[in-house]
Amino acid sequence: MPTLLDPIEIRGHVIRNRLVLPPMGTGLAGPRGEVTDELIKHYDVRSRCNGLVIVEHSYVSPRGKVTENQLGIWSDDLIPGLARLAKTIKGRGAVAVIQLNHGGGKANPELVGTPIAPSSVPVPGFEWVPREITREEIDEVVEEFVEAARRAIEAGFDGVEIHGAHGYLLSEFLSPITNKRRDEYGGPLENRMRLPLRIVERVRRVIGSGKLLLYRMGVTDAMEGGFTVEEAEVFAARLVERGVDVIDVSGGLCGAELPGKENVQGYFVPYAERIRRRVKAPVIGVGGVRDPLFANRVIEEGRIDLIAVGRAQLEDAEWACRALEAVKKYLGGRR
Ligand SMILES: Cc1cc2nc3c(=O)[nH]c(=O)nc-3n(C[C@H](O)[C@H](O)[C@H](O)COP(=O)(O)O)c2cc1C
Repeated sequence: MPTLLDPIEIRGHVIRNRLVLPPMGTGLAGPRGEVTDELIKHYDVRSRCNGLVIVEHSYVSPRGKVTENQLGIWSDDLIPGLARLAKTIKGRGAVAVIQLNHGGGKANPELVGTPIAPSSVPVPGFEWVPREITREEIDEVVEEFVEAARRAIEAGFDGVEIHGAHGYLLSEFLSPITNKRRDEYGGPLENRMRLPLRIVERVRRVIGSGKLLLYRMGVTDAMEGGFTVEEAEVFAARLVERGVDVIDVSGGLCGAELPGKENVQGYFVPYAERIRRRVKAPVIGVGGVRDPLFANRVIEEGRIDLIAVGRAQLEDAEWACRALEAVKKYLGGRR
C-alpha cells in the first residue's frame, strides 16, 4: 500500500504526495472577488509541501456570493489575478485546483438581495427565506458554472472542483429538506441530482479531457429527513460516469463538521471509504486531522487515496512540511 509520501497519478497529473490543502475561504480577496497580494502569500507558503491545493470557494455569479471578501471567478477580468494564483501554486510543485461555488440559499442577502434556492425554504440554521429559482434561472446557473470552469482553465489551473457540499446551492438541490420542487428537479433522487449532473457533464466538456474534475460532495445532511449516504453512493457513481475524477467527501446541510464527531480525527473518512468502495475512483477524506501519523495511516491502510488537512494548516502554514518530515522519520525507523 502507498504511504502519505507516495505520488498518485490522476488523468495524467502527478500529485507528488497524498496531502491536500482543502478549500478554505480566507476572506482575503478584493471587493469584486479579485486576487490580492495577501491571498497570493497565503497560498504561496501553503503550496510548498501539499501534493494538491484546492483554492477556496470562488463565486461563479454575483447572485451566489456568500461573504464580503470571497474570491470571485464570475467575470473574465478576474482571470489575470487568478492566473497569478495558479502560477504561484504550481511554481511550488503542487497541483492547483480551484473550487467553484454558488451560495444558493446561503448567499448573503446584504450582498445579493433575496437569495435563490431550489425552494422557498430557509436553509436549516439560517433565518432568511430564499426565493424559488425558476427553470430559466437553473439554465443560467449551468452556464455560470461552465463559464467559471472555462476561466479557471484559461487562468492555468490543473482543474476545478464543483462545490456540492455544505448546504450551498447544489447541496440544497440534493436535500429533500431544502428541495420541495414538483418539477423535474425535485422529488425522487433522479430529479434532485439532475442539476449537478448537468453541470458536471458540461464542465467536463468545457475543460477538456486533460484537466481534473473534482466534486465536493455532501454525503449526508446528518438530519432527520435529509440526504443520506445511501443516496450519496448512487449519486457518486453517476458523477463518475459523467466525468468526475475525484470525489472529495464532506457534509451536506450539516456543513463541514459532523454533529457529535467534531473531536474524532478523520470524521468523514469512513464515509469517503464507503463512496470509494462503490465508485472505484479516488476519494479525498477529511475532518479534524491534526496528527501526521494518522494521515499516513488512513492512506497506508488503503482506506482513502488522499487526505485533506484544513484548520491545522490555516493555523500553521508550515504544517504540511513538518508532517512530511515526521512521516519520513517514522517510516525510516520502521524499515
Ligand atoms: C475558515 C474555513 C473556511 C472554509 N471554507 C471552505 C470552502 O471555501 N469550501 C469548502 O468546501 N470547505 C470549506 N471549509 C471546510 C474545510 O475545507 C474542511 O473540510 C473542514 O475545515 C474540515 O477539515 P479540518 O478539520 O481539517 O479543518 C472551510 C473551513 C474553514 C475552517
